[in-house]
Amino acid sequence: MNIVVGVTGGIAAYKTVQLVRLLIKSGHEVTVIPTEDALRFVGTPTWEAISRNTVTTSVHDDVARVRHVALGQAAELVIVAPATANTIAKMTAGLADDLLGTTLLATTAPVAIAPAMHTEMWRHPSTQANITTLRERGVHVLGPADGELTGGDSGPGRMLEPEAIFADALALLAPQDLTGTRVAISAGGTREPIDPVRFLGNRSSGRQGVALAAEAAARGAQVTLVSANISADVLAAAKHPLVDIHVVGTAAELGAAMQDAAASADVVIMAAAVADYRPATASDQKLTKEEGVLDRIDLAVNDDIVAGLAASRPDGQTIVAFAAETLADPAARRERAAGKRERKGVDLLAVNLADADHGFENPDNAVEVIGAGGAVVASAEGPKRGVAAAIWDAVVTLRG
Ligand code: CTP
Repeated sequence: MNIVVGVTGGIAAYKTVQLVRLLIKSGHEVTVIPTEDALRFVGTPTWEAISRNTVTTSVHDDVARVRHVALGQAAELVIVAPATANTIAKMTAGLADDLLGTTLLATTAPVAIAPAMHTEMWRHPSTQANITTLRERGVHVLGPADGELTGGDSGPGRMLEPEAIFADALALLAPQDLTGTRVAISAGGTREPIDPVRFLGNRSSGRQGVALAAEAAARGAQVTLVSANISADVLAAAKHPLVDIHVVGTAAELGAAMQDAAASADVVIMAAAVADYRPATASDQKLTKEEGVLDRIDLAVNDDIVAGLAASRPDGQTIVAFAAETLADPAARRERAAGKRERKGVDLLAVNLADADHGFENPDNAVEVIGAGGAVVASAEGPKRGVAAAIWDAVVTLRG
């Protein structure tokens, strides 16, 4: 997709480098249009290197190709990040005294802005009136967040994090192909208590499941997200009016919550890393070395939740399981995944390579989706939100 990223003169411009990187990594063609002021914060070489495209600021550059309107006409999405109070005022007035200004007037693509400024400037009646006008004209205003600002003060005015801008801006282009679909997703990793201070757990951050929930909601689904031990900053990406979050801790709690949610769901996705075993007994007192009881922990087997859901599924329900595999050989990995899909009785099994660069605790993932007969029906690599989109595409195709 052809995306224009406008950058205006605020310190948050340095974070926009990461936004451009995310867009490029997920396969988009990006043209960065900084204002002259923005270049005081981050220079042309950085924008050109990261976007792999020529960067200019003036309407008098590349005149032969009518660049001052061509970029806007060709854009499928325009993101302005950071959007300063000055730029917001210029956009409202329709000023076109630089390349970003002309591009914004020449485009019919969706426009998203990520405001960044001090709280006083954000709250000023001029800025608020301008924001209202821009919203009425269909501009999507992402944020600002409430948090620490340059100079040590804090309040609303902080630019959203690049990952959030990336997800929210791309969601504007999401097909509404899950409208009316009820979805139950588990995410995160279960913790099985040994005593009040210890547990058996795993390294799942919950990012992939959260991305699946956010993507489903962006595409119109009504989502129940069962969250096992996901940190607040990761879970924040799932905040959406269509997402209902249930917090659980252990495999047994996750199983009960998923059974509830799955009863009325059209699609169930088990992205959580569920402990296969739990300590046979959990002590209600802290265990000590002196007692010698920590040398050995007896385990009891947990139910296979997804297999149970698959065995008692209502008609027409689609079930997707996940498998993290460390087998580096793709053919061997697929074969193992195909067997697991059969054993669990699920429709699709998303198998991801768990190595140093992919899977657990990483922002990126590499996934193949295995369907009937062990066929690879989809594959995706890159940021987890893009991987989530590919998995949903496969689900939509399967459901016809
Ligand atoms: N899962 C589940 N209940 C469990 C364990 C796993 O529902 N008690 C689900 C996970 O949410 C995931 C898939 O099953 O969707 C992952 O299975 P995995 O644990 O990799 O498969 P196993 O059959 O346990 O095989 P392995 O021996 O590789 O661990």
